[in-house]
Order: sequence, then C-alpha cells, then structure tokens
Amino acid sequence: MAEETPTTPDPKPIPRAAPPPGAGGPPKAAAPPGAGGPPKAALPPGAGGPPKAATPPGAGGPPKAALPPGAGGPPKAAAPPGAGGPPRAAVPPGSAAPAAVKPTSPPAATKGDSASYATELSVVTRREFLNYVWAGSMALLLAGTGGISFYFALPRPRLGEFGGVIPVSADEFRKSATDAAPIANNVGKFWISNTEKGIVALYKVCTHLGCIYPWSASANRFQCPCHGSQFHMDGTYIAGPAPRNLDRFMFEIFDASGASLSKSENGDPIPLPDNAASVKVDTGKKTQGKGHF
Ligand code: FES
Repeated sequence: MAEETPTTPDPKPIPRAAPPPGAGGPPKAAAPPGAGGPPKAALPPGAGGPPKAATPPGAGGPPKAALPPGAGGPPKAAAPPGAGGPPRAAVPPGSAAPAAVKPTSPPAATKGDSASYATELSVVTRREFLNYVWAGSMALLLAGTGGISFYFALPRPRLGEFGGVIPVSADEFRKSATDAAPIANNVGKFWISNTEKGIVALYKVCTHLGCIYPWSASANRFQCPCHGSQFHMDGTYIAGPAPRNLDRFMFEIFDASGASLSKSENGDPIPLPDNAASVKVDTGKKTQGKGHF
C-alpha cells in the first residue's frame, strides 16, 4: 500500500487590498494626511502654494494690465513733453548715453506734390543760364550776319539801268504808224512796237539761244541772224528753231502830270492814250513768250 505523501497545503495569499495599516503604506487614496502628501486637489492653503488663479495680489506681481502708475514707466503716448522723447528719454542718468539721433532729411518731392515738383524743375543753375545766354547771342550774331550778307548780295538795279525801270517818251510811238518799225532801247535791251492792239515791250534776246535779233524792214519782221528764227512785230513766233514767242517786259503809261493811265501787268499790248506822255518799262519784270510746240 502506497503511502500517501502529505502535501503542504498552499498558504492562502494575503489579499493586497487588505494590508494592515503601516505595512505597505496605505493606499494612495486613503493615505493619511501628511504621510504621502495630500492630494493636490485637497492641499491645504499655503502647503503647495495656492493655485495661480487664486494668487493673492503682490505674490507674483500684478498682471501687466493692472500695473500701478510708475512701476514700469509711463506709456509712450503719455511721455511728458521735454523728457527726450519716448523710451530713450527715460534712460536713467549715469547709464550709457543715448546715441545721437541722425537728423532726417526732408522727404524728396514727388510728382504727386505738384507745387514742389514744378519748383524743382524750374530751377536753372548758373551754368545753364550762361549757356542759354551764350547760345542766344550766337544765334543773333549768325542771323544778323546772314541777313546783312543776303541783303547786300541782292541785285539792286537803279532807275534807268537794265534790271530797273526805264522811262521812254510816248511821243516816239504816237507819231509813228501802227505798222511803223519798232523803236529799240539799247540801255534797256528791249524793243517797243506800236501794233494794232497797242504798244508792247519786247526783250531783245532771242528765245532760241540768246542772240540779239534785229528788225528787218524789208521782211517787216524780226529775224535772228544766228539760226534764222523769225517773229512778228508783236513778238509772236513765225519760223525757226525758237521754241516760243519773244519775251515781254511789263510797263506802265503816264500822263504829263505823272498820273498812271494804264498798266500792262503781263506784258500784253495796251493802246496808247492820246494824253500819254511817258512809258516806264520795268526790265526787272519779264514774262516768257508762249510756246508754239
Ligand atoms: Fe536766234 Fe538761234 S539764237 S535763232
């Protein structure tokens, strides 16, 4: 018969929830006051400091918004006049001197500031003014010199000379028949013909190549000796290489008192009045003869 081995009965575990007071310490929730410190929520006033929300005035400093006047300096806006300005003026004596403040230049004029902008633009320096004066003087000098040169360079025919007004007596034409030979004026280089339409002043130079043509009494016409061009008494073209009629001068008829009786504006023939005393031919005003081609 087998012996039964006595077995040791398992000790009953000690329930942790029921340790004796003082053996493992009371449960935190049940710790006595002072052993492990009271729970924070149950701390007595003064043991761990009051909660921030309950901080008494003066313990941690008042809130900034509640600073008493003078504790942190007056606000900038309330700085007393003459104190030196904002924060820099509040530096206590003996401390580092405040840095000198650079003077700020006035703001530059902008296009928006029309008055000051126009003033800047209108400022002319001394050098610019002298340049303007010099340029104006040079322009006046050149203009004057050029004008005087041009004035003296112009032809200036006098009375009785070719290029000017040449007076002739009207009696020379009145006593001649309308078909009489033309009368030459060598000074004025013209012929005066008394035609059925009136008198006309013809330039003595051939319209072909510039030869001096004579009057041919036998042919009763002007005939150029150079190339044979022929013209009627009034200067109209008949034959030859001349491309056009003879050129004509303008003239004016005057009576004995010097009053103008009639005037040929374009050289066309005009009748000679009975009271005509003189004819003034302007050799400076010539009209080209009409071309026949
Ligand atoms: Fe008079 Fe030639 S110049 S015809």
